[in-house]
Amino acid sequence: SPTLQGLAAARGLVWGTAVTNDQLQNPDLQRLVTSQSGLIVPESELKWDGVEAAPGRFDFSAPDRLLAFAREHGLVMRGHTLLWHEQLPGWVKALPAAELDKALATYIRTVVGHYRGKLPSWDVVNEPIADDGTGLRRNLWLERLGPEYIASALTRAHQADPKAALVINEYGLEGDDAKTARKRRSFLALLRQLRDRGVPLNAVGLQAHLYANGSGATTFRTLPVFLRELAALNLDIYVTELDVNDRELPAAIPERDRAVAEVYAAFLAAVLPEPRLKLITSWGLSDRTTWLNSFFPRADGLPQRPLPFDANNQAKPATLAIMAAL
Ligand code: XIL
Repeated sequence: SPTLQGLAAARGLVWGTAVTNDQLQNPDLQRLVTSQSGLIVPESELKWDGVEAAPGRFDFSAPDRLLAFAREHGLVMRGHTLLWHEQLPGWVKALPAAELDKALATYIRTVVGHYRGKLPSWDVVNEPIADDGTGLRRNLWLERLGPEYIASALTRAHQADPKAALVINEYGLEGDDAKTARKRRSFLALLRQLRDRGVPLNAVGLQAHLYANGSGATTFRTLPVFLRELAALNLDIYVTELDVNDRELPAAIPERDRAVAEVYAAFLAAVLPEPRLKLITSWGLSDRTTWLNSFFPRADGLPQRPLPFDANNQAKPATLAIMAAL
């Protein structure tokens, strides 16, 4: 029977999924991951709070286990994420500017160096654009290091692994609303500056945390043109964290599943024709493992159904919609 990775590979794409070591303890989930995907990305194991919980004490045991799993099953693993404003250890947040820059340089050199030649790509900078789309996010990096932190992180990552594709990963770029349009403009301005200065950057990641009938992206009329603008900057395009939040929909499962499947179909119809699209990674494969139940719980307490397979790892309308699109 067809698989997501099989269908994606036939059109020159890779299908990936986010996983954790915990999830892979479950043999059914493990089978789903190895049969449906060609790539994994650590959902949390490669974030700073886990890798360097105390200054200078690097611990790669958890991400190393995921890499060993990937290799054992013929999958590749990509890196996520070096520089973010979330999941930072407390000691990093407490550093004054000069030491913060030093800790960041050491972190990038050590982590990217540890995996040199082993990961095809890295999300170097995660979510650098402000939520309201008006410019760079006012996080501790911008506040303490200034806007140069982005170019500097990319340059340092490139030095530590010259062959890894370097990515800036961002959310809220998929929809047709005014806020998305603003965010796209700020994002493109950042990318143009980096390109004009010759800063190493190979791809952009569109997280694609989508919504069925909700506040976020549901239609994708303007997305193909935006993808062309990214491609014109000579950047590859990765969909990095695809899922479809159903918290705004009524409880009935058939309707929810239909609406979620429709969003997948519309989104894939918008992105698949773009020749610079190289990779689609969903943020999990089975509804059982979705992050949305803890971060965006439904008001009625029912589990969300945002991922390509249901909580028992069985096909559902989204599965068929994705496979039909691929
Ligand atoms: C989320 C994970 O899914 C959670 O398990 C974790 O606790 C918090 O982070 N954008 C990102 C991802 O770039 O790293 C986030 O992952 C989801 C939003």
